Amino acid sequence: MAYSEKVMDHFANPRNVGEIEDADAVGEVGNPKCGDIMKMYLKIDNNIITDVKFKTFGCGAAIATSSMATELVKGKTIEEALKVTNKAVMEALDGLPPVKVHCSVLAEEAIKAAISDYYQKNGINPEPIVGKVGSCCHEDAPCPCSMDK
Ligand code: FES
Repeated sequence: MAYSEKVMDHFANPRNVGEIEDADAVGEVGNPKCGDIMKMYLKIDNNIITDVKFKTFGCGAAIATSSMATELVKGKTIEEALKVTNKAVMEALDGLPPVKVHCSVLAEEAIKAAISDYYQKNGINPEPIVGKVGSCCHEDAPCPCSMDK
């Protein structure tokens, strides 16, 4: 399966690349198998994600999925952003080849890691709300630990 035009577009012209110096929350996740790392910065005002930037050291699909994930959470409330799944990111990109599904999981996890950081900074235990973050395995994605890049 070839990459969709949207994946190619977000890979070649990723949106919201960079970092936010005075970010309200920062999340970083890594994939232990491929070594790719995604870092997500959020600016949150009144429960709304007013700005978001990312840095991804990783494969093309990881860059495209993080770019799309930032577009999907921008302007949303924290609760809405938590509902942005890797599936939603993939659908917005018109799909990914099966071996690249796990890259979209990294994008979902990066959002969750940043929101967890936000809760923690505000004295709230994120785990009951956000769940465990940072697992490379996911129900609808093959575990990258057991597959090659
Ligand atoms: Fe590592 Fe895509 S996230 S290969």
